[in-house]
Amino acid sequence: MPIEIVQTGPLLKSCEAALSERFTVHRLWEASDRDALLAEIGPRVRGAANGKGVDAALMAKLPKLEIIANFGVGYDNIDVKAAKARNIRVTNTPNVLNDAVAEITIGLMVALARRLPQADQFVRQGNWLKGSFPLLTELNGKTLGILGLGRIGKEIAVRAQAMKMRVVYHGRRKQADEPFVYYDDLTAMARDVDWLVLIAPGGAATEKIVSRQVLEALGPEGFLVNMARGTLVDEAALVELLAAKQLGGAALDVFEKEPKVPEALFALDNVVLSPHQGSATHQTRNKMGRLVVDNLDAWFAGEPLISPVA
Ligand code: 8YV
Repeated sequence: MPIEIVQTGPLLKSCEAALSERFTVHRLWEASDRDALLAEIGPRVRGAANGKGVDAALMAKLPKLEIIANFGVGYDNIDVKAAKARNIRVTNTPNVLNDAVAEITIGLMVALARRLPQADQFVRQGNWLKGSFPLLTELNGKTLGILGLGRIGKEIAVRAQAMKMRVVYHGRRKQADEPFVYYDDLTAMARDVDWLVLIAPGGAATEKIVSRQVLEALGPEGFLVNMARGTLVDEAALVELLAAKQLGGAALDVFEKEPKVPEALFALDNVVLSPHQGSATHQTRNKMGRLVVDNLDAWFAGEPLISPVA
């Protein structure tokens, strides 16, 4: 009998096809009666392919669960503490998305600096016939502060240097092998930089780490770029300060309650909005899907996991 797994949310079609070739896949989010389904299959399920989250309550209904393979590098929607308590292994999809996320980060920075979405609308609405679009600002010569100089953060740093930006960073600790100036205080870094890019993990440890105080320190000339999770930012303060021009601008790929986005942002011209598309390319998502399948294959073949986080 094929091994039975649950899939918590929609995944890439190619990934779903590969999973169905190997496993009996129970698509939880499609269940008309989720609890009844879990009661019936719970005693047999050994794995989970995760898109929408695995909390302790779900784990409790899967007594034979051995592994959770996450589709994403960020696994803040998995209760890893509960998994560890049950010796349930957890994997993610690191590295394969570094370039895609770093690329669009720089893209969103240029889009915000030069107001590209607004400029596009300016031309489409025929306003260029009536006058020129305003002069704006450049990235070169500016200072970029990175919150989270991890695998993706380092790729952003490389690209920012190619844009002739100075790079500094803040994180849990100074990294001896990194040439950039380290700030042990995020507010102090926000005060000194022109751009603040967020690319640190979500979860309790970084909840609202970008507080009103940090946003005020970044100030009316400062720009925020969030590529991490909406939970890292005090979103209410962000909206208020952007509307009052007490924060220069923001390019946002993630939101606290996405896909719901605060409507107050829609009318602001110092904001660029993006629908969590950091890793949303065919080549990258296919690699992420591959990693989900390969980790499950390795586990059930008794081989070492490729990208374990627990
Ligand atoms: C995922 C992401 O696409 O990898 C992550 O942590 O945020 C994105 O690449 C997203 O998590 C979808 O599941």
